[in-house]
Amino acid sequence: MTSEDYAVDPDLENTSRASVRTPLSRALATAAADLSAAGVESPRVDAELLAAHVLGVSRGRLLLVDALRPEELSRFTELVARRARRIPLQHLLGTAAFRHLELQVGDGVFVPRPETELLAGWGIEHTARGATVVDLCSGTGAIALAVADEADPGRVVAVERSPAALAYLRRNAAPFAGVEVVEGDVTDPSLLAGMHGAVDVLLCNPPYVPDGTPVPPEVAEHDPAEAVFGGGDGLTVIRPVIALAAALLRPGGVVGIEHDDVHGEAVPALLRADGRFAEVTAHDDLSGRPRYATARRT
Ligand SMILES: C[S@@+](CC[C@H](N)C(=O)[O-])C[C@H]1O[C@@H](n2cnc3c(N)ncnc32)[C@H](O)[C@@H]1O
Repeated sequence: MTSEDYAVDPDLENTSRASVRTPLSRALATAAADLSAAGVESPRVDAELLAAHVLGVSRGRLLLVDALRPEELSRFTELVARRARRIPLQHLLGTAAFRHLELQVGDGVFVPRPETELLAGWGIEHTARGATVVDLCSGTGAIALAVADEADPGRVVAVERSPAALAYLRRNAAPFAGVEVVEGDVTDPSLLAGMHGAVDVLLCNPPYVPDGTPVPPEVAEHDPAEAVFGGGDGLTVIRPVIALAAALLRPGGVVGIEHDDVHGEAVPALLRADGRFAEVTAHDDLSGRPRYATARRT
């Protein structure tokens, strides 16, 4: 697709070529058709969000826009072409929406997913005023920062291993005074040794897709593999995280771990098998697929 593929509304055509404008409705329809042909899952929404980005307005305010100027059309066309090459929408926008936050994202960091908002919401509900909260495998900081934003914790510790992800995490966390970023490996049993037995809420969205599982190009080519794949059975990081959670939580503290939809029984079973947790509960996402498990430290 090029800008020339967009028909120009003669009514809007002015005397000079530079002032020719393209109706937004037509540009959006063309873009949505191109994105659909490229296999993009939500072509119309993506086209609207890219147009809103180019115009510097919210998606809702596109209703008030009639047409694109030539320079706007050219930027829009370029972004649509990149999206058609299956570059994640959020990489093109530079941000990802997560609950009430706009998080910076880009190469080297996992794009937070809407389904993780459920685990974050569960964590927020279980965070009492002044609580100590740990977010393992923090990525952009989505979960940790949502808790800091929506609850009233005393201390939030966000742990991440990848240097590229840590750069985004530090930038996203900068406005939150009570959030500490820790570089560390969540499979290390001595991680946060000074906090053992002192954590009220532990949350984790680890890499959990079983190795070799086919994933869309946005994930395969743009999410870091270490953020997505969790070993042959997908549980390589979850197993040590459960043991670490048992060590870090105070008696009565709670843990929530997101998992693959094939692990709706396996992760609750691992929590029960540890022997240090009660109230093990499986939770589905909004489409009814098993998505996270929670438990309370005895
Ligand atoms: C699925 S992403 C989740 C990111 C973020 N919590 C979210 O929900 O959007 C998993 C994250 O865990 C990090 N990670 C993978 N293995 C790790 C390890 N052993 N120790 C610490 N972080 C790890 C990855 O770099 C990635 O940022």
